[in-house]
Amino acid sequence: MQRTLFVTTALPYANGSLHLGHIMEYIQADIWVRSMRMSGHKVYFIGADDAHGAPIMLKAEAEGISPRELTTRYSLERPLYLNGFYVDFDYWHSTDSEENKELAIEIYKHLKENNLIELRSINQFYDPVKKMFLADRYIKGECPKCHSKDQYGDSCESCGSTYKPTELINPYSSLTKATPVFKSSEHLFFKLSSKECVDFLIEWTTSKNKQGKKKLQDQVFSKIQEWLGSDPSNVNLNDWDISRDAPYFGIEIPDFPKKYFYVWLDAPIGYLASMKAFCKKSNIDFDEILDPNNNVEQIHFIGKDIIYFHALFWPAMLKFSGRKTPDEINVHGFITVNGEKMSKSRGTGISPLLYLELGLNPEWLRYYLSSKLNSKIEDIDFTIDDFIRKINSDLIGKYINIASRTCQLIAKYLGGKLNYYEKEKELSQELYLRTEIVRKNLEDREYSRAIKEIMSYADYTNQCFDNEKPWEIAKKIEDTNCSYYKKLQFICSCTLARFKALSIMLSPILPKTSKKISIDLFGMKKDFDWADIQELPLTINKFEHLMQRAEKEQLIKLFENTQSTIENMDHKQENPSINIEDFMKIDLRVAKITKCEEVKNSEKLLQLTLDIGNNEPSKNVFSGIKSSYKPEELVGKLTIFVANLKPRKMRFGISEGMILAASNKEETDNKKIYLIEPDSGAFPGMKVS
Ligand code: 2FM
Ligand code: ZN
Repeated sequence: MQRTLFVTTALPYANGSLHLGHIMEYIQADIWVRSMRMSGHKVYFIGADDAHGAPIMLKAEAEGISPRELTTRYSLERPLYLNGFYVDFDYWHSTDSEENKELAIEIYKHLKENNLIELRSINQFYDPVKKMFLADRYIKGECPKCHSKDQYGDSCESCGSTYKPTELINPYSSLTKATPVFKSSEHLFFKLSSKECVDFLIEWTTSKNKQGKKKLQDQVFSKIQEWLGSDPSNVNLNDWDISRDAPYFGIEIPDFPKKYFYVWLDAPIGYLASMKAFCKKSNIDFDEILDPNNNVEQIHFIGKDIIYFHALFWPAMLKFSGRKTPDEINVHGFITVNGEKMSKSRGTGISPLLYLELGLNPEWLRYYLSSKLNSKIEDIDFTIDDFIRKINSDLIGKYINIASRTCQLIAKYLGGKLNYYEKEKELSQELYLRTEIVRKNLEDREYSRAIKEIMSYADYTNQCFDNEKPWEIAKKIEDTNCSYYKKLQFICSCTLARFKALSIMLSPILPKTSKKISIDLFGMKKDFDWADIQELPLTINKFEHLMQRAEKEQLIKLFENTQSTIENMDHKQENPSINIEDFMKIDLRVAKITKCEEVKNSEKLLQLTLDIGNNEPSKNVFSGIKSSYKPEELVGKLTIFVANLKPRKMRFGISEGMILAASNKEETDNKKIYLIEPDSGAFPGMKVS
């Protein structure tokens, strides 16, 4: 039966570039969507920018531009990433749109009509200088437990304890440094803890979807159980504050002056808004697609950090505004790089754009991520050696090689013609069964298992080929009727039919290469779909090279350079002027370079040991100055050291600070770097100000 699927990925905030975590989610969803399309299902694959909220407003303000100018900047760069990694959304819209405004207001009105909205007065910290209520993350102060200074309003980075912002000692606004005052304000609450809502959520989370499957993965379900409680008497849900005071960048609440919908109310509604805009453009009946009584399945791919919003608020909002509720919430874990967690604001150390700029093949990343993703919420780790091995030994060595070896023989001895000599049935059955396993695993989002199956079939294909030693048979061919000719033709035909099957299996993952194979090599008029497994190939065209090996140097460049690319970008976006207090926060000291060595496997870095005076232990620093200095030139020199930079874990070790150097940023090829040295007479430990 043909299914109709409305598939979304989480909407990224439009105040930053996309990072590897976003790309991983889009690739995961894109592979699933492609696989479902190959089965003949109708899929609407929809994304958008999440363009509202206080952080966007404040960042725009700091740059002296409007929030819309800021969000437009990022929305314009989205296609570079999406096209770059072959992520094939049908539509990409924004929550800052007419459709979203209309839908948000409509949904809100319905919730209100259903008595699920309540007005309450709450007390909140208020910044009297900025004249703005402060979200927890804009309040800092001393940790009530361990007394570390400058901790955030909700948790302490030093001792890990969590608390309320009101418990902070000497709280201050991180926006203006002013002491916040307590002030009351009226807010709207969505009554998530009401009996109706709880009953519905219990029903929704436990009942099966239209496919008769669970809507939530087991781990998500148990998380939800903690919130919903094991029975109605111990529900752990709070009502949800859906309004924010002006100034705010968002949708104004009708009949509630100077109040806006909280960004998390209108963000998921953005899924519907983007779908609506797509429908308008494509002449599709939006209301019919989203009619709660039809069979269209609504499926969301998200990360594990936003389960609460998607598995509780969102279904309840939809249900009580008379809409279709989600059929599946597919949650994935995070991606780490060399075991390092990524920070939400900065992303991991790997920039997807740099990946593309360095000429790394986007399909390698799609393949690599597939080899690690499954239907659980496990984090996955990206490391250079693992990547190289998966691409070169598996993808190229096992899969791509099959075609290059076989096609050579077919072209040279068989004139491009294939023949299975009455063995079609057996072979077809084998191909079908193998492909089915992979198709099923992809449908279940068990990508790593799919890749294992594919690789084991590639191994089998290579073994069958090698066992027959076709290159030796080829030497014995006299004419096209002799038994050697037939034997060679049979071996090569079977091998190539298996290669075609492998290509069909891989086509959701490698859309570009598989297109090349279906169209150029097999002369088909279209991309592969699953049904193409039923036809054994009878001729082939000339074999063109399909895919390059991955070079370790490229990856080293990616891992090394990204951090600085991101830092530079962050820097550009910030307000260029700082005040003297900001400057004084930097602890600059004179340091003496006592030791200096090259770093193995690094093009840019030197490893320095610094004497920073005052009998303090010496410091280890990695510095990107290798292009301009030989290690021995530096030993004995004095320089300036940033002493209070957070230590940074790098691939080669921990860097405990930074030394200062000048360079001309414009010249990239032969950029010269000049170490900063104090005038003679300075000694290690002296403060620089
Ligand atoms: O966590 C985030 O990045 C949010 N912008 C995700 C929103 S998903 C959906 F609700 F829009
Ligand atoms: Zn603490």
